[in-house]
Formats: sequence, structure tokens, C-alpha cells
Amino acid sequence: MSDKVKISLGKESHEFPLIKGSENELGIDIKDLRSRTGLITYDPGYKNTGSCISDITFLDGEKGILRYRGYSIDDLANNLTFLEVAYLLIWGELPNQKELSNISNEIKKASSIDKDLEQILKSFPSKAHPMGILCSLTSALISFNPSSVDVSSNEKMFRASIELMAKFPILVSWVHRKINGLSMNKSDSKFSYTENLAQMMFKSSDDYKPNPIIIDALDKLLILHADHEQNCSTSTVRIVGSSHAGMYASISAGISALWGPLHGGANQAVIEMLEKIKADGGNTKRYLEKAKDKNDPFRLMGFGHRVYKNFDPRAKIIKKTADQVLTKLGISDPVLDIAKALEEEALNDDYFIKRKLYPNVDFYSGIIYRALGIPTEMFTVMFALGRVPGWIAQWKEMRLNKEPIGRPRQIYKGHNLRSF
Ligand code: ACO
Repeated sequence: MSDKVKISLGKESHEFPLIKGSENELGIDIKDLRSRTGLITYDPGYKNTGSCISDITFLDGEKGILRYRGYSIDDLANNLTFLEVAYLLIWGELPNQKELSNISNEIKKASSIDKDLEQILKSFPSKAHPMGILCSLTSALISFNPSSVDVSSNEKMFRASIELMAKFPILVSWVHRKINGLSMNKSDSKFSYTENLAQMMFKSSDDYKPNPIIIDALDKLLILHADHEQNCSTSTVRIVGSSHAGMYASISAGISALWGPLHGGANQAVIEMLEKIKADGGNTKRYLEKAKDKNDPFRLMGFGHRVYKNFDPRAKIIKKTADQVLTKLGISDPVLDIAKALEEEALNDDYFIKRKLYPNVDFYSGIIYRALGIPTEMFTVMFALGRVPGWIAQWKEMRLNKEPIGRPRQIYKGHNLRSF
């Protein structure tokens, strides 16, 4: 096969090089398309556009493959903790015992937050959405860490990553406690990263002991959310950072992008949908029909994916984990039965088969969060916590690759010049 692609325009023809990824995926390098031909490409939603060259995450939507730094998501989710996977994403390799204990200690030392930030949290109205609060608090962190990170300094990038990994669970647990009307729990260095998150969120007495079922479920969920290459929020982080805005500012923008129901906000929307179906007598067929009706704006939340056209490997792991967690905790949730019935019906329905629509990561994640005692509005906040190492890794890669400022073009279809 040729390593070039020819574009013909009238009598002219131009050749553009093909670029090949390490898994043999091919792309046309059109960096100088406009300067050579005067043309631009039109691709709303960037469905066919590669925005960068990356060595962080590989996914093959047709085969249902997801790997971080070459390791399969199954291996990572079933064998490692979230902190180990975060290390892998941010620093490129799995940590040895010494490296792990070093970052764990550094994170423990950085696990406190300025009192002034607590005042900002307190001033939010009690009905404020947790994602709005999280986004504002992440932005507010910038004022306590004003210097922007020098990406070429390993030491400075190390510190910025440690600070964010340390402070984010505190923000998440604060938001959780605030919306539940509870006082805040301080970070406790005797616990591991995920245990500490759990105690900050759930501890109600001094004799609190982390429940290994809850810790294992949290580790799995956070790992499954940790990165997903150039999705909407990660692209947002990269594009904001491409203007040389700081890492915290870029990640705060990523949190806003994640909030939407077509992206990370789907985990909240799924449970709200399942609750509605339950209140409606469990009539799954009616909702399936609504989802297929082009005159009805209703979509089956937690179904479909821009890239996965076979199955979402994360959904498989999450479905199994949901079953295990509910059984081990002795919880019977009728919403899980509705979810399974809905999935079964959709997977056998021509509409969903033809469009290759499968359950995505968010279809079952909310059921686990509910079982752990996390309120629905907090689900996307938990997703954001998991995504932090991915955002850090992607931001760092974008800056180290010296990517140019992100600035798409457009085809203008408005008025021509007119007088007034
Ligand atoms: N329910 C019903 N129909 C759907 C659904 C759905 N959940 N998802 C896609 N379709 C249909 C569309 O109507 C369209 O049909 P058409 O070809 O007849 O017009 C076709 O399938 C293709 O859908 P698009 O919207 O073009 O696909 P796109 O890649 O742009 O969107 C998305 C992907 C946003 C995830 C979409 O499937 C969706 O809205 N799903 C529900 C929300 C959701 O679960 N989001 C979480 C995604 S995972 C994540 O971000 C963490």
C-alpha cells in the first residue's frame, strides 16, 4: 500500500503523507492542506479528526480494546490500585515499591487545603450542583497555587501533579459532605489513597474502618475512568492548555465539559432514567420505543458511544462489579433489574443493533455508586476524580509535544457584505 494519499482538485493533484500508529491505525497528515490547496476539512464533532499524536491510551472501538500505556484495562482494573494506575498514566511506567511509597508519602504530605478555600465552599447555596461546586473549587485552587507550571521541569511537574492528586479527593469529599449537610473529615495519613478518600467521605465515628468491598469497588471505578484518549473533556483540557493556560485552569475547564449528560453526566442521567422507568411500573419497552422515536428527544442514557461500535470494555467490568458489590453488601436494588432488562431488550432490538449501540461505562456505574451510599448528583464528581490522572498526563504530553494553539476553522455561510 502507498504511504501517500492523493487529493485531486480539478486538474491539480496533491499528495499527503499517511501516518501510522503503533497499532497500525492510519491517518492522513493534512497539516499543510490549506497552505498547499486553499482547502480546509469540514468535520463537525471531529468524528474523523485526529488532533494529536499520543502514547498514553490506545482504544479500538471496533474490537472493544482499551489500554493505558500498553496494559489492558482488564489487567489494570483487576490487579492494581487507582494510585498505581495514576502513576502509570502520569509518569509512563508502573511504579516499583519504592516509587509507589514515595508518591504515596508525598501525596499524604500535600493532603490539606487552605482554610480560605473552605470558606468558599461554605458560601455555596445548599442546592448547588456538586459539579458546579467542584469546578469552582478547582478554579479557586489556582489562587492558592498562582505560579504556572514549567512543564519542562520534572521537579515542577512532579509537584503540580502531586498537589492535584492530593487535593482533589479532599475537594470531592468536601462537596459530598456539604450536600449531605455533614461536617468535613480531615485527611488521615494512616490510610491508603482510596481508603483515605472513603474515610473523608463516609467516616461518621472515630472507630471507622474502611470496608474492603467498598475500597475495591472505588479503586475499580476510578481506574476505569482514569483516561479515555481524546474524548470531549480531555480534548477540552488539551485545547485550553494549548493557549498555555495553567494545568489547574485547563482541568477546571475539563470538569465543565465532563458535566454534560452526553459525556460524564450520563451516569447521573442513567439512574434518573431508571428511577423514572421504575416509577412508571418498570415499563422498559415503552422507554425503548421512546428512544427509537425520532420525534421524541429521549435517548437511552448510558447507551451508545462515539468510538465503541462493538462493546465498551469498561461496561463489561462495571456490570460484573455491580453484581458482585450488591451481592457482597447484601443490597437488592430493583433499578439493577430494570437496567438488565433494558440492556437485554436493547441488544436484541434492530434499531440498536443496526446503529451498534451498546451499554457504555456509565450504564452500570451509578448502580455501584448508589450501593456505596453516594447520592446521584455526586456521580459525575466521582468520574472527575478518576479522570484527574488522565487529564494531568494529557496536559503534560500536549505541552511537552509543543502542540500549537488549538484553533479550528469554519465554513462561513452568513450574509455577504451588506450596507446599513
Ligand atoms: N438512544 C437512542 N438512539 C441513540 C443513542 C441512544 N442513547 N445514541 C445514539 N443513538 C442514535 C442516534 O439517534 C443516531 O441515529 P440516526 O443514525 O438514525 O440519526 C445514531 O444512533 C448515531 O448517534 P450519534 O448521536 O450520531 O452518535 P455520536 O457518536 O455523535 O454520539 C453519544 C455518541 C453522545 C454517546 C450518543 O450515543 C448518546 O447520546 N448516548 C447517550 C448519552 C450517554 O450515554 N453518554 C455517555 C457516553 S460515555 C462517556 O462519555 C463517558
